[in-house]
Parts: sequence; C-alpha cells; structure tokens
Amino acid sequence: MDAKSTVAIEFVNVEFRLPEGKTLLSELNLAVERGETVMLLGRSGSGKTTSLKMINRLLRPTAGEVRVDGIPVTQWDAIKLRRGIGYAIQDVGLFPHYTVRENVALVPRLEQWDRGKIARRVEEVLTLVSLPSAEFADRYPHELSGGQRQRVGLARALAADPLILLMDEPFGALDPITRAELQREFKKLQEKLGKTVVFVTHDVGEALLLGNRIALMEDGKLRGVYRPEEFLDTADAAVQAYVDVFRAGQQMFRNKQLTEDLR
Ligand SMILES: Nc1ncnc2c1ncn2[C@@H]1O[C@H](COP(=O)(O)OP(=O)(O)OP(=O)(O)O)[C@@H](O)[C@H]1O
Ligand SMILES: [Mg+2]
Repeated sequence: MDAKSTVAIEFVNVEFRLPEGKTLLSELNLAVERGETVMLLGRSGSGKTTSLKMINRLLRPTAGEVRVDGIPVTQWDAIKLRRGIGYAIQDVGLFPHYTVRENVALVPRLEQWDRGKIARRVEEVLTLVSLPSAEFADRYPHELSGGQRQRVGLARALAADPLILLMDEPFGALDPITRAELQREFKKLQEKLGKTVVFVTHDVGEALLLGNRIALMEDGKLRGVYRPEEFLDTADAAVQAYVDVFRAGQQMFRNKQLTEDLR
C-alpha cells in the first residue's frame, strides 16, 4: 500500500441502505489517519459493524465512497485489499481443524511466503501476543481458553503485517480481568507497531484507553469524533450519558474495593 498519504481510511458521505429500503447508515464522513487508532463506540445496532465491513468491502456503500489509501475500495482488487487488512472479530473465526500455527500462517501461506519465513513469522507473532509457540503452536482452537483464542485471532490478523487492523469487539466476550490484560497488551503492541486501527466497542473505558480518537455512532449516524480528553469533557449530552455510565462503573468498582478492604 502507498505509504505517502497521511489518510489511511476515508468514509465520504457513506450511506448503506438495504434492498427493502431500510437505511442502516447515512451521511458517514470520517478520515482515519495513518497510524491512528479510532474507536467506533455506540449502542448495539448503531451501525458499528456495518461501518467496519465497508472498509474491507464485505459490504458496499449504496451511496458515497470508502477509500483505502486514497483509492475507492470498489477499485481495489478485493483479495489484495483484504490481505492488506487484518480483521479480528469477537468469536474469532479460527478454523477448528487447523492448529494454532496453521491458523496464524493462513495469510502468509496465501501470499506464498517461503516455509522458513512463515515459520519465523508464526513464532514472532505468537510471542507478540504472549502465547509461546513451544506451548501453543500445535494446539487446536478447542484446546485453548476464550482469551487464548482471542490472542490467536489477533496473531492471525497481524501475521502478514498488514498496515490496517479492523477489530470488532475482539475482547467483548472475555472476563473483566482477562479483558483488561488484553487491552493493556494491545495498547503496548499498538505503540510498538503503529498500525492504523479501527476498533469497534461499546465499552467506554476501552474506547478511552485504546483510542487516539473516539467516533460515537448513534442510529446509523456519526454523532461526533472526540479525543479521549475531549470525550470526558464535552457539553454534548449524548457523550455525557456515556461518561456518566463510565464514571458510575468506576465508582462501583471503588466501592467494591472498599467493601473488600474492610473485610
Ligand atoms: N443484513 C441485514 N438485514 C437487516 N438488518 C440488518 C442487516 N445487517 C444489520 N442490520 C441492522 O442494522 C443495524 C446496525 O447493525 P450493526 O451490526 O452495524 O450494529 P452494531 O453497532 O455493530 O451493533 P452491536 O454492538 O450489537 O454489534 C441493526 O439495527 C441491525 O439489526
Ligand atoms: Mg457489531
């Protein structure tokens, strides 16, 4: 992909309407800078996944345009486009009859890398996601915990070193402690790798922790885009509702700690 332009992904007046006429997305305008992590935050059904799938052309806009590296995705060769984009989703979608190694090697194999390079890369990305290959590479997905499968999903998305990562609630199904651990690791990884990331979540804390910017979706529209510090300090009532929930959660956590401390 072209490394010159600073905008990696751009939505220009994007609309997505179903054949029967229901509009799922409208007037979506958003530019994601290279190396930036944008969090798509919003309630269930607000259009986050639909937006994400327009980037790797799993869905096509019914009006407007999505561009990757300045080129409309409709003009990209679909295979080349998708291989340049790592995609990690909540239920991971690992192949059950492939080992961890085979799952992670999937895209490099499609890219016809040589065996040695694939083997080295599998080791490397499994180390990145804290799954030592000696212990994990030959296991099958059903021999892993949910959190470990999620890590394999991330390793697979990173394997061919794509410039863009799309993540759709990748940590949503995990227990809170494992989730917090993976969030911290992802943040470190992101600082190291500098990928362009679009990350779907409905967890305000996750959005604040991982995002350079937060794009708030409401009923198929983009309500606004905020840096985390702006998000915490805006007069916009829709944002304040999220911030209130977030702060109430923090308060509850503190109270729980307190109760436990007193025991
Ligand atoms: N193929 C489809 N046919 C009909 N409705 C659809 C279709 N795909 C999505 N929708 C609807 O479009 C809206 C947006 O869906 P989308 O999956 O983008 O939401 P989301 O923000 O990702 O929600 P969640 O947080 O629950 O994953 C929802 O109301 C959903 O029911
Ligand atoms: Mg979704």
